[in-house]
Amino acid sequence: MQNIDSKNKYTGINTATRLAGLLGHPVGHSVSPYLQNALAEKYGINMAYLGFDIAEGQLENAVKGGLAMNAIGFNVTVPYKKDVMKLLAGVDPAAEKIGAVNTLKLEPDGYHGYNTDMPGFGRALDYAGISVKDRNVVMIGAGGAANAVLCALLEKGAKNVLLLNRTVEKAEALAERFRNYYPDSRIFTSPLTETEISTGTGASDEQASGIEPYIRTMDSISPDKWLAIQCTSVGMSPKTGAAPIECRDFYEKIDAAFDIIFNPEETLFLRKAKDAGAVTSNGLGMLLFQGIRSFEIWNDIEVDDNFVEELLSGMRDAIHK
Ligand code: ATR
Repeated sequence: MQNIDSKNKYTGINTATRLAGLLGHPVGHSVSPYLQNALAEKYGINMAYLGFDIAEGQLENAVKGGLAMNAIGFNVTVPYKKDVMKLLAGVDPAAEKIGAVNTLKLEPDGYHGYNTDMPGFGRALDYAGISVKDRNVVMIGAGGAANAVLCALLEKGAKNVLLLNRTVEKAEALAERFRNYYPDSRIFTSPLTETEISTGTGASDEQASGIEPYIRTMDSISPDKWLAIQCTSVGMSPKTGAAPIECRDFYEKIDAAFDIIFNPEETLFLRKAKDAGAVTSNGLGMLLFQGIRSFEIWNDIEVDDNFVEELLSGMRDAIHK
């Protein structure tokens, strides 16, 4: 695999090269240009992928510009995943359900929107060997990313899903939306109390080991072990000394943990889970597989797992360069 710098010296661009790119603000730290251009090279696709930092108020112009230039498609990231939906010729039903679009594909009538975070997360779980079917899953966080994660878990047949969030009303709103789509699954909510929010120096052991409401909720739902998915920004670089949950009883209840954060590679949450004996996986796989799914949509191809390790390694280099 070439490193990112040599990739930027790409000379294969010609008049047949199709444009793709990332629309967001900011986009400076994105590894998507590395990933998409590496995929294009691996699969012999004449496509060039750039990052576009779209200023506030310019999203509609950006989408119209893409149309005018016949760009094959775009990824869409923060803060435009919702706003872009009203600018499209069509939205895939799964993306509609999740309420966010992260991939645009050019069709004869304009751009159509898809959500690849959802299948990307599902494929990352598969790749990590973490199964969901008929399992108890506890999710921490109810923000934008949690929507796609919850949808994937329900699609994969999770038996019980417990949503924990600092603002419990957001967890309840998320649960309520998906209960309508998956009436056979049980979705519960519980607040995360302030005592669990550690900055590394905060909660004492006494506070941390008190019986929290969500521990009682977990016990009342099932005595079996849980899969835990961390979907908040707590513990993300540079504030790596924080975990959304300190309570030791929580980590004793889980046997697998997934953190959507990929920098650092091992968050404090994952370290605590691993110390308690859980299988762990970070969010780099989700980032990779959402990108792979977008690439598949644009190019009507299926990407196999042959290059996954190579791409993950290149992404690590791009993130830490
Ligand atoms: P994203 O799109 O990455 O999910 P988001 O929509 O801003 O970002 O959501 C961030 C999530 O992290 C939310 O669940 C948020 O909790 P609240 O809904 O209560 O705000 C959670 N979060 C952020 N900072 C947190 C903190 N210090 N403690 C606990 N949860 C936090």
